[in-house]
Amino acid sequence: MITETGTDISKAVSFLQGGELVAIPTETVYGLAANAFNEDAVLKIYEAKQRPQFNPLIVHVASLNKAAMYIKHIPAEAIKLAAAYCPGPLTMLFSKTEQIPDLVTAGSSRVAIRIPKHTVTLELLEQLDFPLAAPSANPSGYVSPTTATHVYEGLHGKIPYILDGGTCTVGVESTIAGWNEEDELEIYRLGGISVEQLEDVTGKKIKISKKMTENPSTPGQLKSHYATHTPLFMGHAGEVLRRFEDQKIILINFTERNPDVPDEQQFILSPTGTMEEAAKNLFRILREADRLKADVILAEPLPNKGLGRAINDRLERAQFIMK
Ligand code: TXA
Ligand code: MG
Repeated sequence: MITETGTDISKAVSFLQGGELVAIPTETVYGLAANAFNEDAVLKIYEAKQRPQFNPLIVHVASLNKAAMYIKHIPAEAIKLAAAYCPGPLTMLFSKTEQIPDLVTAGSSRVAIRIPKHTVTLELLEQLDFPLAAPSANPSGYVSPTTATHVYEGLHGKIPYILDGGTCTVGVESTIAGWNEEDELEIYRLGGISVEQLEDVTGKKIKISKKMTENPSTPGQLKSHYATHTPLFMGHAGEVLRRFEDQKIILINFTERNPDVPDEQQFILSPTGTMEEAAKNLFRILREADRLKADVILAEPLPNKGLGRAINDRLERAQFIMK
């Protein structure tokens, strides 16, 4: 299959209507989209990504109103959160109706709903009479794509069309939140909307769930997520550099250059020292670091607040798992 990249929304519409896959731009990362109502189309997502079918997919819609047709109940808190952060990098879990196939939710009674903040994809969704199931558009386990070129590198030959909407502005995936049996809001994945931002709206402390959606339940069985081919370790340079003394290392720092490491072996996530800039650059820099084929990539943790928590979470998951 030839993979074309372009900006033609009507072309994307026809592929999706025909049950084919299209990579779509969002503000977080590119998604690999299919008609969420069409099981054959959804199956193609799992195949193209080599994604295990027990890992459910987020359903993208143009507005919460449109999703109201496939979800049973919208808690009052969800309406407040949506007013503040949707469209945006927030995904919420709701109990689903039968219209959403079990294949999309991997058998769960809850569906993940997100309204992406990207003009191209919002326009695309407006032209469709079905929602789009879409995981990140990368082969399962590798770093998520933040440009159309990243998508092409990972999936060319497997999908017919990449809708190019430029570089993703947020750069880490959406925050996933839902209500537990006690009707309390919990976070299942850290992401583009910070814990503090959610708490500003709810006025309450929010729990980070022990059942994080991307936790390998049995260590050693699943590949790590977001992983580079080069083994990645997290730690403070001062402590870990010595451990890798004889190896070719690449260092990823938040904002400052390390005088002990040659410049060509260093990446700075944010020259201006903001979490937003660091998030936006994170996945591109992981890919570039990987391409240098060093022995190890060392990543310094960021301050653990705001978007820094989501970035640290991604770096932790990218870490090399010792067998
Ligand atoms: O920013 C994003 O969320 C991007 C863009 C494309 O929207 N999408 C994304 O999808 O990151 P993916 O598949 O790479 O990650 C989605 C996560 C997975 O960890 C999955 O387990 C979880 O969401 N998830 C999806 N549906 C779920 C459900 N019904 N219940 C619990 N977790 C769910
Ligand atoms: Mg993903």
